[in-house]
Amino acid sequence: MSNDSPPDSAAADPVGHAVDVLRHGGLVGMPTETVYGLAADASDEAAVRRVFTVKGRPADHPLIVHLAASEAMPAWTSSIPLAAAVLADACWPGPLTVLVPRGDHVLDIVTGGRPTVGLRVPAHPMALDLLRRFGGGLAAPSANRFGHVSPTTAAHVRADFGPEVDFVLDGGACPVGVESTIVDCTVDPPQILRPGAIDEEQVARLLEGIGGVASASGPSRASGMLSSHYAPDATVELFETLATATARAESLTAHGMRVDVLDATGDLVVAAQQLYAWLRAADDRGIDVVCAVIPPPIGLGHAIRDRLQKAAALA
Ligand code: TXA
Ligand code: MG
Repeated sequence: MSNDSPPDSAAADPVGHAVDVLRHGGLVGMPTETVYGLAADASDEAAVRRVFTVKGRPADHPLIVHLAASEAMPAWTSSIPLAAAVLADACWPGPLTVLVPRGDHVLDIVTGGRPTVGLRVPAHPMALDLLRRFGGGLAAPSANRFGHVSPTTAAHVRADFGPEVDFVLDGGACPVGVESTIVDCTVDPPQILRPGAIDEEQVARLLEGIGGVASASGPSRASGMLSSHYAPDATVELFETLATATARAESLTAHGMRVDVLDATGDLVVAAQQLYAWLRAADDRGIDVVCAVIPPPIGLGHAIRDRLQKAAALA
């Protein structure tokens, strides 16, 4: 694994070093435009198994396979639904995952034994460089311990995993900050299973001429979509207005609690970018309760509300 290479190769060519680590069955913290992933060679069963062990993730929660380009899709799927082709063409590289029928050789451990596989081409230049030089698919969940807040910096990945991850590529803070939009293209009409930066309105527009898309509020079919997820240690309470959040914060503070008000309205691009760093910082500072003001459910507001609702849900 990482020890096979001379120690300074990582500094001289971090992406080349990451490729070596992956080819030897190791795990790499990979920056993407959404959040950091914990990447393994998607065709190496033992390496993928380690992802589940290190994350503490149940085996029935499938992993997204990351590709260098949409041209690599046929190697992973038995057929490309029209909706998946349209979305890939319009959105890749970018924060969108399509569920398509799995190809025959895709490992059961990657798909959780399901007939579908999630595919995505990330837009981060370092991830693309890694994928191109690696040459295969990289199975990568978000690089956080199961149920914890997703990581948006290399330091977050190191904080969750320490030496259990063989190498972390530092690509800076993730520009999007919330996980990719997931669209199940194996159902008719396709269904949004997880809201993200490619918002519901955009997906609907793209699929308008070919049968449309089912509303994101329909029943979720993705496993791993637990109601409680993305959760900090602090209790998270949700408010529609800053005034109600502040009033609650004052009352909790008067009762001796350590409270933070997190205003996730205003510039939603910045709110999404900062969301997970804010939640992690609240834990680092020993905050008991985060009073979060949630944005209206429009555009990126869907994704921010979804993640904060999951952070607020009791187990
Ligand atoms: O932005 C992202 O999507 C990030 C970066 C690293 O690419 N990845 C990510 O992966 O968020 P993860 O594993 O934390 O979340 C993926 C979700 C999980 O809830 C998983 O169960 C679901 O997608 N999923 C993946 N493949 C699936 C499949 N074939 N069928 C149903 N659900 C699937
Ligand atoms: Mg995750």
